[in-house]
Amino acid sequence: MRGHVRKALVLGAATVLAGTGVVAIAGTANAASTLGGAAAGKGRYFGTAVAANHLGEAAYASTLNTEFNSVTPENEMKWDALEGTRNSFTFGSADQIVSHAQGRGMKVRGHTLVWHSQLPGWVGGLAATDLRSAMNNHITKVMQHYQGKIHSWDVVNEAFQDGSSGARRSSPFQDKLGNGFIEEAFRTARAADSGAKLCYNDYNTDGVNAKSNAVYNMVKDFKQRGVPIDCVGFQSHFNSASPVPADYQQNLQRFADLGVDVQITELDIEGSGSTQAAAYSNVVRACLAVTRCTGITVWGVTDKYSWRSSGTPLLFDGNYNKKPAYDAVLSALGGTSGGGGGGGTGATCSVSYAKTDTWSDRYNGRVTVTAGSSAISSWSVNVTLTSPQKISSTWNGSPTWDSSGNVMTMKPNGNGNLSAGASTSFGFTVMTNGSPAAPAIGPCTASAS
Ligand code: G3I
Repeated sequence: MRGHVRKALVLGAATVLAGTGVVAIAGTANAASTLGGAAAGKGRYFGTAVAANHLGEAAYASTLNTEFNSVTPENEMKWDALEGTRNSFTFGSADQIVSHAQGRGMKVRGHTLVWHSQLPGWVGGLAATDLRSAMNNHITKVMQHYQGKIHSWDVVNEAFQDGSSGARRSSPFQDKLGNGFIEEAFRTARAADSGAKLCYNDYNTDGVNAKSNAVYNMVKDFKQRGVPIDCVGFQSHFNSASPVPADYQQNLQRFADLGVDVQITELDIEGSGSTQAAAYSNVVRACLAVTRCTGITVWGVTDKYSWRSSGTPLLFDGNYNKKPAYDAVLSALGGTSGGGGGGGTGATCSVSYAKTDTWSDRYNGRVTVTAGSSAISSWSVNVTLTSPQKISSTWNGSPTWDSSGNVMTMKPNGNGNLSAGASTSFGFTVMTNGSPAAPAIGPCTASAS
């Protein structure tokens, strides 16, 4: 896809407001050519988890510095890293990440203050009264150290059990302090740094399910009772056993409707090629469709340092090459790929998408291709499905397919001439085979006519 930049090429991206069939066309003319820049154009940040010990690697640092405008220390702000000995704080590695970010105008997410994992042994040995004071001291000292430097803190991480119980997870905090520890942590956090957004963060809460319902009920209760909470983080670690839920956007929206921001905090999606790219695109489009989805963080810069390295879940491969998933994310953010400088002389096209009909087993989609400020010909648009969906018929275009059968490249019947600003549409029927997901549309490429 990337790489065959010819005399003229520009990406188009569609933002699908799922369930409504309504679509917004992303502008293309001067869209940014980095993840952070494109996200900023949408009023969001695009961040990554960072490990301090990789900052000295030139390719790691340059990829980070070029592409991202928010960072989350992957391990360096966890309790075991900061307070291995009671009330003795070691901020060195975390400070290194914060100053790297601040020196380059990047934001910082704080991760994480109260979590059952990566706790030093001494915490688990405390009795309730002591534990309460240790928890509040940890929150207070850490937040005060970073006051004014952190845009959002994961105050409490992963406090709920997986599965259908909706119960809290066993931890020293839960077991000794009871359900109230979460509320206490948030109240302490607000008192420590009133400028930081306070988030609850968890995994397997990305769709509507028993666990996310339990978190939802807690957040609703907090909002009703005035317990300070500003945001909910959705970790979004996906793979074939745990794919992007079909109701991902709906779930983000229902939390946002409680009056909190939502953030995608640890995104990674195992896989490769167009399937991985389509899943990433769906996540980005879901965030963009939720006004209070304020940013996306991927859980690492490169596949080679991912906690799920063998699943190649990130946007850059082990040699820092941009993957198809990178192109899909950039396109979904309305950006243009770097290649040729994205200038104003070439032919440009943009795309929009609408679902026009729905039946129990299939739906019809329509893609509209619009020429930019000069005439185009020979346009081409990719339509990527979520497996096991299949396209059963198409109209007003000439389709070809990639080897996976998931990506249809649609070209015009005939020369595809469009004068500046003119539009044309093609259509297709998607057999859902159980997946109602909207297709990922784009990029749109064209030649000058
Ligand atoms: O730094 C030591 C190194 O000195 C030592 O030689 C090596 C041997 O095991 O361990 C290194 O520490 C590891 C650390 O990652 C840094 O690589 C720890 O063992 C390892 O447990 C730790 O894993 C982290 C994991 O959280 C711990 O639970 C992952 O990097 C980190 O990506 C992961 O992040 C979590 C989020 O915080 C919360 N949500 C889930 C997510 C994925 O598990």
